[in-house]
Order: sequence, then C-alpha cells, then structure tokens
Amino acid sequence: MTAVNNQRRVAFVTGAGRGIGRAIARMLAEEGYDIALLARSAGELSQTARECEALGARALPISSDITDPVQLDQAIEQCVRDLGSLHVLVNNAGAFHWGSADTADPDAWDHLIDLNLKSSMRATRLALPHILAGEEGGAVLFIASMAGRIAFGMNAAYVASKHGIVGFAGSVFQDVRERGIKVCAICPGLVETSITDDIGADLAKMIQPEDVAEAARYMLRTPSHVCPTEIILQPQRAPWEK
Ligand SMILES: NC(=O)c1ccc[n+]([C@@H]2O[C@H](COP(=O)([O-])OP(=O)(O)OC[C@H]3O[C@@H](n4cnc5c(N)ncnc54)[C@H](OP(=O)(O)O)[C@@H]3O)[C@@H](O)[C@H]2O)c1
Repeated sequence: MTAVNNQRRVAFVTGAGRGIGRAIARMLAEEGYDIALLARSAGELSQTARECEALGARALPISSDITDPVQLDQAIEQCVRDLGSLHVLVNNAGAFHWGSADTADPDAWDHLIDLNLKSSMRATRLALPHILAGEEGGAVLFIASMAGRIAFGMNAAYVASKHGIVGFAGSVFQDVRERGIKVCAICPGLVETSITDDIGADLAKMIQPEDVAEAARYMLRTPSHVCPTEIILQPQRAPWEK
C-alpha cells in the first residue's frame, strides 16, 4: 500500500481471502480498481493482495471479523482514508452449514444470520454515504445464492439468510436507483470453493469462482441507464446427479 491516487476507482470486497471473493477482487484489479480486502485470515488476504497488485491495483488487506460492528466500521473508514474514496461494495463474506430445522443449534443460526445477512446490511449502510458522494455512480453487489431464490432442505438458516439478502438488495436498489447506484444480487448454485469441497457433490460440474466474477464484471460494465438487479447462475449439469 502506497500513496493515495484519487483518479482510480475503489472497491471494498468482503470475504476476499479465498474462493469467490478472491476471484472478484482479481476481476476488479483487471478492471482498474484499487481494492480493500476484508477477511479474518491475514495470510489468505496477503495472497489475494499480491495477486491484485500483480494486475496493477493497489490492495489494502484488512484483517477483521465482519460480524463485529466496530471492526466493520473501522474497516470501511480505513478503506476511505487509505484508498481515498469508495465506489463499489461487494458483500460476499459468508458461511454455510448443514442441519435439520428440528435439531439445529439456535446459536449457530444466530451466527449465520449475523454473518450472511446482518453484516452485509451493516456494510451497505456504512458504505452507501461514501458511494453516494461519488460523482460517477457506483454499485453494491451481493453474493446471494440459489438458496436465496428457492428453499433447500437441511439449510434453514442459510436459506433464510440468502432470501433476506435478495430482499434487502431489491429494497436498496429502490432507495438509490435515482441516484445512479447499481445494486445486484448474484445467485449462484454450487461453486467449487472451500465451502463445497467436502459436501459430496461432483466438483467437476460446479460453477467456478471466476464464473461468478464474470457475472459481477458484466453487471459493473452495463451502461448507466440499465441495472441487472438479479443474476442467477446454475451449473449446466447438476452436481448432485451421478
Ligand atoms: N460456494 C458455493 O457453492 C456458493 C454458492 C452460492 C453462494 N455462495 C456464497 O458466496 C460467498 C463466498 O463463499 P465462498 O464459497 O467463496 O466461501 P469461502 O471460500 O469459504 O470464502 C469465504 C470468505 O469469507 C470470509 N469470512 C468468513 N467469515 C468471516 C468473518 N466472520 N469475517 C470476515 N470474513 C469472513 C472468509 O475468510 P476468513 O475465514 O479468513 O474470515 C473467506 O475469505 C458466501 O456468501 C456464500 O454463501 C457460495
């Protein structure tokens, strides 16, 4: 990280240490953004930062727990202070766990809702005044899920969190559309990441993190008079089919 250059656009990516978040960070570097990268694991963030810098971006790794409101507030402020502005927020950090609704641990549900839903809501609230202060428009992306569109069994809290994200994103769009801010919920099916590597589905049939990053690139590149508010990505062949 070096001196501020206000000519470049700035993005903030949560969950940028690996998987979909890392692929989106690399795409943003290719698109000419400087990028604040948030996750807990400093080592994984350093790797993402190196990959973004190799593509010509300035990268600001911020090792924070997004479920802690104080840490999240400080992270957004650090992004604006060190990179000079904020134009694009990518709400991606999230986790997944299995469990039947009749036996699940309610504390685990609380944590999942905090991480997958409430942290993205809070990040959006904190980032929007900065995004709205820009003159060229901006964007808020949410990495939701197919579980935000249809209900799967054994995933009740995850499905609830992702349905919440899709609803929240749609409402945020209504609030900021007249001010030129794009808002999009990307809803992928199974993507090959650390979340899915041990679930027993066929990894070879899964979406790749770079496919999700390409959907985000498409959204960001749309002309200013149009906004793809939801993008659904299905694996072509069903990973659960043998
Ligand atoms: N993989 C799929 O099949 C799939 C499908 C649809 C949607 N999604 C969604 O895509 C998003 C990314 O998932 P992924 O598959 O790329 O998972 P992943 O490889 O496990 O990456 C998750 C990222 O979120 C970060 N994270 C987790 N808890 C955090 C916390 N408390 N504070 C800050 N950062 C935190 C992780 O870093 P640390 O652990 O170091 O904090 C990591 O960088 C999630 O919202 C997920 O629900 C995934």
